[in-house]
Amino acid sequence: MHLVLFGPPGAGKGTQGTVLAEKRGLTKISTGDILRDAARAGTELGLKARKFMDAGELVPDSVILGLVREVIEDSGNSGFIMDGFPRTIPQAEGVDQMLREMKKVIDAVVVLDVPNEALVQRLSGRRSCPNCGAVYNVYYDKPKQDEKCDRCGSELVQRADDKRDTVARRLDVYKQQTSPIIDYYQQHGADVHFINGDRGIDDVLRDILQIVDR
Ligand code: AP5
Repeated sequence: MHLVLFGPPGAGKGTQGTVLAEKRGLTKISTGDILRDAARAGTELGLKARKFMDAGELVPDSVILGLVREVIEDSGNSGFIMDGFPRTIPQAEGVDQMLREMKKVIDAVVVLDVPNEALVQRLSGRRSCPNCGAVYNVYYDKPKQDEKCDRCGSELVQRADDKRDTVARRLDVYKQQTSPIIDYYQQHGADVHFINGDRGIDDVLRDILQIVDR
């Protein structure tokens, strides 16, 4: 199974992609995670990418396509889930070309639909623990003690691009530069599915599994 998990920032691509990868033995390819790891490691690529990410802008296509080629090649014959990629038409064209060369195809595209107000609440309220990775939301899933992790007591942090203004910019960039990819896939005959992502995590997962397990 080669699946594209598509949707605006905060739609739940990462959350669903992680569980799906675990349940079905697929490789999750998250360009956001790869870029954040590179930024934390202080590599040249990571430092360059961080400027774009912190401003809510997209990292240039040439950088992203090189990164993804490596991960797809490394995934060998296991299936994969692409989370947060492709994000522009040139990236969608680039990955199509890459997959043709590798004799692979995208089997399905799942679009997670979530209204903007919910996205803003999910992202601007998100806090995470830098020590154990636990995720909270100050609006609907608060830690017991303000800004401290319930599991390990570490000080919670906010992703730099989850500040309200940057969230607004990310949503705008999604609308302008990323959402046209849905038309691209429909016009190229891909198997596109729209799923209501504004429900509990398990309900959304059940619908995606129906597509993956057909
Ligand atoms: P990336 O890391 O891909 O972030 P994003 O897509 O903007 O947004 P998120 O990862 O925050 O959202 P998500 O849809 O994965 O939702 P999640 O499951 O986390 O990209 C970051 C930046 O990197 C970009 O802005 C860009 O600069 C750069 N970049 C990355 N890829 C690129 C590319 N291909 N080209 C160019 N630049 C690129 O959930 C969000 C929150 O909601 C969590 O707190 C979660 O717990 C909660 N949640 C999830 N599901 C539910 C639910 N059903 N109900 C309630 N809460 C939920």
